[in-house]
Amino acid sequence: MKCRLCGKKPVIYMPHHRLALCREHFDSWFLKHLERTVKEFRMFSKDDGILVAVSGGKDSLALWDALLRLGYRADGFYLDLGIGDYSKRSREAVERFAGERGAKLIIRSLSEELGGIPLLVERTGRESCSVCGSVKRYFFNKVAKDHRYAVVVTGHNLDDEASSLLGNLLSWNLKYLGRKHPVLPQEGGFVRKAKPLCRFTEKETALYCLLRGIDYVEEECPFSEGATSIFYKEILNRIEERSPGTKMRFYLEYVRKVLPLFGQDSKESLGRCRVCGEPSPSEVCTFCSLRERVLNFIGTGRSSTG
Ligand code: FES
Ligand code: ZN
Ligand code: ZN
Repeated sequence: MKCRLCGKKPVIYMPHHRLALCREHFDSWFLKHLERTVKEFRMFSKDDGILVAVSGGKDSLALWDALLRLGYRADGFYLDLGIGDYSKRSREAVERFAGERGAKLIIRSLSEELGGIPLLVERTGRESCSVCGSVKRYFFNKVAKDHRYAVVVTGHNLDDEASSLLGNLLSWNLKYLGRKHPVLPQEGGFVRKAKPLCRFTEKETALYCLLRGIDYVEEECPFSEGATSIFYKEILNRIEERSPGTKMRFYLEYVRKVLPLFGQDSKESLGRCRVCGEPSPSEVCTFCSLRERVLNFIGTGRSSTG
């Protein structure tokens, strides 16, 4: 096999694109493919202030790096979730990345403001991923608005999007299915959100990091062990092995053909949280009710060091 563009030894073969590329051409393909995705879905422009939600993992750091190289005004936001060594290492990776590039990085610490994820899970009895999802959503939106960014971007890749689509389809979760678009507009107190890596597999983002010398945290969040999403990814990978291109088609054809059928009906009409003023389907938003529960817990004298 040879690089399609120059005939040199390839570093990757992407069966879903029927494309083999050498190191140099993979790098330029990655940037071009990213820019095409941003334009095709009208995610943002070079004039927009972009807040990249970075976790320290390969996807978000690859995304931030590539956006900077393409000349976008991309700053980073890291939310320290207080998950022991995992958070410590990922925070270091993000700080190192930003320092090396002189890029602007905003950091907030969940442990300082409310209590880390393990503590919140213990005190609310809710599942870690759902608590984590709620606090991330809250902070991404709040920080982007407070600092006047036009859009928040996350590093969700094709494997993430296809597996969560599969999960939502299996339970016919219409609320989430109706919001599976790679870009969600600014509305009802939410800033615009985009997933520019939605057409890249995790193998591609990992290779991009490797070739660019980006030092990312390889370990997954300890709470993700045994997660259903990982199981769905494995299933989709098996299907992909048998018929390359299925994963991409599954996701993109859903976005193109099925999502438009949802129309306006799928949009939740949200009120405002009476405590913090952020958009919320209930009187008090999830974040504020988490906070109330943590404070009540401390109020009953059952405080722990968590
Ligand atoms: Fe959110 Fe692991 S990153 S629970
Ligand atoms: Zn080449
Ligand atoms: Zn609130």
